[in-house]
Amino acid sequence: MQCQAIDVEENLNQTLMGVDHALLGRTYWDQNECLVLDRFIPKTIVTPCLTEVELLRKNVFRNYVPGHKQGGSVSYYAIVNEPREISTIVSLYRSPVLRKFLCQLVKEELLLCPDNDPHSCALYYYTQPGDHIGYHYDKSYYKGKRYTVLMGLIERSEQCRLVAHLPKPGTKDDMNEQPIPLDPGSLVIFNGDKLWHAVTPLGPREERIVLTMQYVTNQDMGLFHRAFSNLKDTFAYFGPAALIHRPKVEQASISHSAISQPDAMSDHPTLQFLAGAIGAPLHRDS
Ligand SMILES: [Fe+2]
Repeated sequence: MQCQAIDVEENLNQTLMGVDHALLGRTYWDQNECLVLDRFIPKTIVTPCLTEVELLRKNVFRNYVPGHKQGGSVSYYAIVNEPREISTIVSLYRSPVLRKFLCQLVKEELLLCPDNDPHSCALYYYTQPGDHIGYHYDKSYYKGKRYTVLMGLIERSEQCRLVAHLPKPGTKDDMNEQPIPLDPGSLVIFNGDKLWHAVTPLGPREERIVLTMQYVTNQDMGLFHRAFSNLKDTFAYFGPAALIHRPKVEQASISHSAISQPDAMSDHPTLQFLAGAIGAPLHRDS
């Protein structure tokens, strides 16, 4: 199976030329820093991403956090390391055109995550009945804000849906739960600290696959947060491979900081589970 080389920048430029940026900006802010763009990314980009989805199935790590999440994930490392001519997924994540659009939308100078973050861009495979994730924020471990961009790739499901608490139309205060279909090429862009969201359980013979891309306003992360993030990625997302690809000096810092820092976070059930596993009071998720 070959990944086709396409000009991501040119394709995105053409898409963005036909967009009412002012309207999208108002919608993003009216929805508490969340914007849904139905089938926004063109097929010319989505199609080679789907080829990669198939190539990377062998790398899926199945994870299970009782009471909170179940599913499969492929890390940024696996995406980058897969041998092929070019990765459209990585090109899309790193696209200057996409990032410029996002910067204007969220009114921040967005940066790529550092190369040692397995969540920089990753794939979530909901392939087995019951695959889901409970309500959470995509809290930032970085010394700045973190923004999530989800792109739908495969949406063969009636039951498995991204659901989020968004303001009722015409209001700014009242939040109600809304299902958000993620058809191929659809985007959901949000401030991770603002959107309370979940994914409902997959039904039998259904499949849902999503690309997640993370952008930050500061690439620095404290040692304790790095250790915690590594722990979360290992247990709840990507398995030991999330650590294997790290520089050795950073691996050393993990064992140090994980046992020496005080309790500093308290916002997520995944990490409550992890905390129970390691005997430390930690909480949060992606
Ligand atoms: Fe999330």
